[in-house]
Amino acid sequence: MTLAPISLEPLLPQARGPLSMAVLELLTERAPRNYLARVEAPVRDSDPYGIDLQLALYVCYELHYRGFAGVDPGWEWNPGLLHLRAQLEEAFLDAVRRDVGEISAETTAAAEMEQLTIEPVDGSGPSYHLRSTGTWEQMQEYFVHRSLYHLKEGDPHAWAIPRLTGQAKAAFVAVEFDEFGAGRGDHVHQQLFADLMVAADLDATYLGYIDAVPAVSLAVVNLMSFFGLHREHRGAAIGHFASTEITSSPGSRRLVDALERLGAPEACVRFYREHVEADAVHEQVVRTDVVGDLVSREPALERDVIFGIRAHLAVEDRLADHLMRYWTSGRSSLRRPLS
Ligand SMILES: [Fe+2]
Ligand SMILES: [Fe+2]
Repeated sequence: MTLAPISLEPLLPQARGPLSMAVLELLTERAPRNYLARVEAPVRDSDPYGIDLQLALYVCYELHYRGFAGVDPGWEWNPGLLHLRAQLEEAFLDAVRRDVGEISAETTAAAEMEQLTIEPVDGSGPSYHLRSTGTWEQMQEYFVHRSLYHLKEGDPHAWAIPRLTGQAKAAFVAVEFDEFGAGRGDHVHQQLFADLMVAADLDATYLGYIDAVPAVSLAVVNLMSFFGLHREHRGAAIGHFASTEITSSPGSRRLVDALERLGAPEACVRFYREHVEADAVHEQVVRTDVVGDLVSREPALERDVIFGIRAHLAVEDRLADHLMRYWTSGRSSLRRPLS
């Protein structure tokens, strides 16, 4: 069996405005080892959910994952660049907080997770659309939007591991173990998604579509990188993880139905079928052994867990709105249409 190749270092994307330009221009140079000078860029004038800010932030975070071909890895911990990144993060976090709104004092993480399991009878998001009337081209676009995350699936949450202890840590790692193929390279979910991309006649290159997707798709991944990379936000990282796992199984079920209706290649169906089964189990583990144990151990983190759940839903809603707005008006949802 041949696996779709996963290349290691991606190529730098194209700048989309002054912020991404400032970051990308810097990365073409050698990182100065004692460079404390500030990188000036007009963060305050930028839309926090706009393509320029989201792309600049995405590129900063990618330095912690695989970096970029031809870019000095020394930029990862360059204080000047980290200072700019902190400003981008502050603008993004403020915007997400506005979306999430007040969290009432009576809300519990358990109730919040229970709420996630209630499926609307008349659901109307992208997976419902794809299941009932969506086209194969729209399905391909959906894969492209999701490729940024699924080709690094498991990685953004893995930053949380050293910040957990006891049962929460053990259960969290047990779920991540499955995401990383349970000891088998050909079962790593990132690899399953690369196989899906090839089967769907798409480019399976890591970050291969970063220039094609809109800001909302970048924001979905930036949120998890942000939570994962800040110990301060570890409660939100776990809430985000829980929300991802709990909502995955029913959403994947609809996508399996959609793909079967469209007569999609087996490798495409396989990825989502795997998630229908695995995430039904993960959901239970996450609710009780990860979140339950974490909040009983560190009650002060409960509000952050709830914030992480709601923040996940907020950025997903933005992506869903974008997809439905473009698809229902017969347009491509990508910045760079596939054909
Ligand atoms: Fe997965
Ligand atoms: Fe999972």
